[in-house]
Amino acid sequence: MTYTYLNVHEAASLIQHGETIGFSGFTPAGAVKAIPKALAQRAREHHERGEAFKVAVVTGASTGPSLDGELAKAEAVSWRTPYQSSKELRQSINEGKTRFFDMHLSTLSQSLRYGFLGKMNWAIVEACDLTDDGEIVLTTSVGAAPTFCRVADKILVELNRFHPPALRGLHDLYEPLDPPHRLPIPILKPSDRIGSATLKVDPRKIVGVVETSLPDETAGFAASDEVTDRIGENVAAFLAEELRQGRIPAEFLPLQSGVGNIANAVLGSLGREKAIPPFEMFTEVIQDSVLDLMRSGKVKFATGTSITVSSEALKSVYEDLDFFRPRLLLRPQEITNNPELVRRLGIITINTALEVDLFGNVNSTHVMGKNLMNGIGGSGDFTRNGYLSLFTCPSTAKGGKISTIVPVVSHMDHSEHSVQVVVTEQGVADLRGKSPTERAHLIVQNCVHPDYREELSGYFSKVRDGHTPHTLGAAYAMHQQFLQTGSMRGVSWEKYF
Ligand code: COA
Repeated sequence: MTYTYLNVHEAASLIQHGETIGFSGFTPAGAVKAIPKALAQRAREHHERGEAFKVAVVTGASTGPSLDGELAKAEAVSWRTPYQSSKELRQSINEGKTRFFDMHLSTLSQSLRYGFLGKMNWAIVEACDLTDDGEIVLTTSVGAAPTFCRVADKILVELNRFHPPALRGLHDLYEPLDPPHRLPIPILKPSDRIGSATLKVDPRKIVGVVETSLPDETAGFAASDEVTDRIGENVAAFLAEELRQGRIPAEFLPLQSGVGNIANAVLGSLGREKAIPPFEMFTEVIQDSVLDLMRSGKVKFATGTSITVSSEALKSVYEDLDFFRPRLLLRPQEITNNPELVRRLGIITINTALEVDLFGNVNSTHVMGKNLMNGIGGSGDFTRNGYLSLFTCPSTAKGGKISTIVPVVSHMDHSEHSVQVVVTEQGVADLRGKSPTERAHLIVQNCVHPDYREELSGYFSKVRDGHTPHTLGAAYAMHQQFLQTGSMRGVSWEKYF
């Protein structure tokens, strides 16, 4: 079939107010870039004429500035799911201008297929190659693109010449059947291929192709510092000891590592720990540090749903595809984050918390309990089902004005039932087999920053009632003091007890 080649404004003009769009992309990797920018311009033109123009935006996870950023700036997003990390969109969400609902990323595709999220009008996907019979070769992520193409009425393809067609073979696309017909997912080890290398769609659904040549808009990572290095060393030493004790099998287990600067630094430290043998990764996002560890031989293989790396790192992958091709595999997020697989393969999960409380409950998403940061992402998919579930964070934030360890978290994403180990630069609290009171003592002793140790032990020494001792009236005193004075330091407990 011959496709209709459109310029970006012609493509954007096909999209109508009130429609729902599934955009490819998982992080800025593989996210469409040209059409959303043109769509933002179209929205502005409508708004200038006093006409409503908003669309619902569904993606794999976060995207780049040309998608979430531009559409949010144009006030063109009616609702958004399942995850975001854009400054402009975050503001729009926290001001109540965009309706956002946070989802476990493994559940997005099935929710669309089940019809839970309504009708999807468009799938707009980035490809590095497209055949006449509807075979799409995706770029640096898979995310939920296969499902978007399945459920959407119409498809637009951004054929991005920046990415080489030689990426064909980097992807393994498999969509489970829906209950009651679903079968076990036949992955027995991280490198197993179970699906097709390309996304096959009915070519008649592709109503237009826009040609581009645009790099991924990945921001890169902050260099590791003393604090993130210490967190990483603590994680590495803990896992090495688990291995020595025989609680992790000698051949080690596949690792999942979360998103962001801390996760990137932690992985770097794991690579330097000699007691940990070369390992495989079964993860969501493949960050820069994974590529370095592959080159050094420490990471044997990594499967994820996106390669989210700096542009220099991506260039080095493209220049050395023969080396990376057998070591990297991209799958749909429904597979990388699948609870069945995470539990069965015995994944060691390492994610980052915004705050942790004395009992091991974790807040990953809401600052001071109310303002969305990014979303839960895959952290719940992995934490709840992991062989061993770790959370890391620096013991303080905002220049020491916030203790990330608090009496009770201001929003809970991961409960004490799922979180097994908490690691800060101060040390490690292994919560397995510990009662809430024992956990609180361990966390104060091992994880809290010295500036807050007295304050938190002061609080806990005063709360004595119940299996999980706390006092509702005082549990948020540190948060309240931060909101009133700009610092959690020096709460005087006398007025609460
Ligand atoms: N209160 C207020 N702000 C806090 C905070 C707290 N308790 N803890 C951290 N922050 C702020 C930091 O100061 C920083 O703000 P800045 O960007 O203005 O400097 C920001 O949160 C990010 O923290 P940082 O220390 O740079 O960590 P990060 O880049 O590793 O991100 C999360 C941490 C929690 C935001 C990030 O990991 C996330 O979104 N997690 C949820 C999704 C997830 O875990 N996905 C992985 C599944 S595979």
